[in-house]
Amino acid sequence: MRIGMLTSGGDCQGLNAALRGVAKTLYNEFGDKLTLYGIRDGYRGLIEGDYHEMKESDFSDILTVGGTILGTSRQPFKSMLKAEENEETKLEKMLKTIKEAKFDCLVILGGNGTHKTANLLSEHGVHVVTLPKTIDNDLWGTEMTFGFQSAVDIATTVIDSIHSTAFSHSRVFIVEVMGHKAGWLTLYAGIASGADVIIIPEIPYSAKAIAKAIQKREKSGKRFSILAVAEGAISQEEAKMSKKEFKAAREAMPYPSISYRIAEELKELTGQEIRVTIPGHYQRGGAPCPADRLLTSRLGVAAAQLIRDGKFGNMVAVQDDKIVPVPLSEVAGKLKTVPPDSDIVQAARDLGLSMGD
Ligand code: F6P
Repeated sequence: MRIGMLTSGGDCQGLNAALRGVAKTLYNEFGDKLTLYGIRDGYRGLIEGDYHEMKESDFSDILTVGGTILGTSRQPFKSMLKAEENEETKLEKMLKTIKEAKFDCLVILGGNGTHKTANLLSEHGVHVVTLPKTIDNDLWGTEMTFGFQSAVDIATTVIDSIHSTAFSHSRVFIVEVMGHKAGWLTLYAGIASGADVIIIPEIPYSAKAIAKAIQKREKSGKRFSILAVAEGAISQEEAKMSKKEFKAAREAMPYPSISYRIAEELKELTGQEIRVTIPGHYQRGGAPCPADRLLTSRLGVAAAQLIRDGKFGNMVAVQDDKIVPVPLSEVAGKLKTVPPDSDIVQAARDLGLSMGD
């Protein structure tokens, strides 16, 4: 049994723990009959034939190590079927590598873009099993992706720390949280850290509504306000725009990120200076939290068992706290965003938090 493994897209905590989970279970199942290959930098390595044989010992002592021992890269799905005249497409190059390397199966760890390509490979007859990775938690078909809970821990710690300085200076702070076009990370970290306002892409914000929430806190004697703002936040005006208008408006925006625009808007409306903190890629780095170590171990075992049972073309997913297979065709190309009427959003509102709308 020859199995190629790759990690693709933005990295996150738990990638190595997941690789370890798959590898350990496969070695236990197949023993000497198994050879594992590490494919370098995600699909880049598959396109360029950059892979190497791995040893069982390569998977020791990596449970708590951040990043990915295999490296990763972003290979846009759109580029997979394009090629210059007389050139092979990236898809054809990948299929060639798989054939030459005689891979019986590929184990692919990734998020949304990665799953579109994994599904494409599966549609072309490649045996594929995938694991859901992303701090954004926006992958369809699973209640939880690995990396998410570690990133929630970090974003929560950042907002916790901002509390003391915000209190001392009686200031309004914005903490900008990653998450791409989904608000999961901001919502979870915002509630966990006791933020006062949570702005997520799924609930377009009104600067006036946020200003009102800040002023209400001031009137009740609160010395500070903390806003957890998703990097993908959009205003109510922007929500009404066409895709083209939105793109043009954002290109013309004279701020490095949405948080600085919100800060300016609030400065105008409240007369307060607003400080912006952006933890950025810090949210993706370092050791996985215990919950992610557990999740990646469970997902790794389940992925290896799918391979043992020949159930290819699936992602291992969390549903009702069980690990189940979900067909790649159901996962590919769909985003899982926060339902604005979900229990968790309602809980935030019931706690008295403003969702900025
Ligand atoms: O998808 C994970 C993520 O960290 C998003 O939250 C963020 O928008 C994006 O990746 C950042 O991408 P990059 O690492 O390419 O800057």
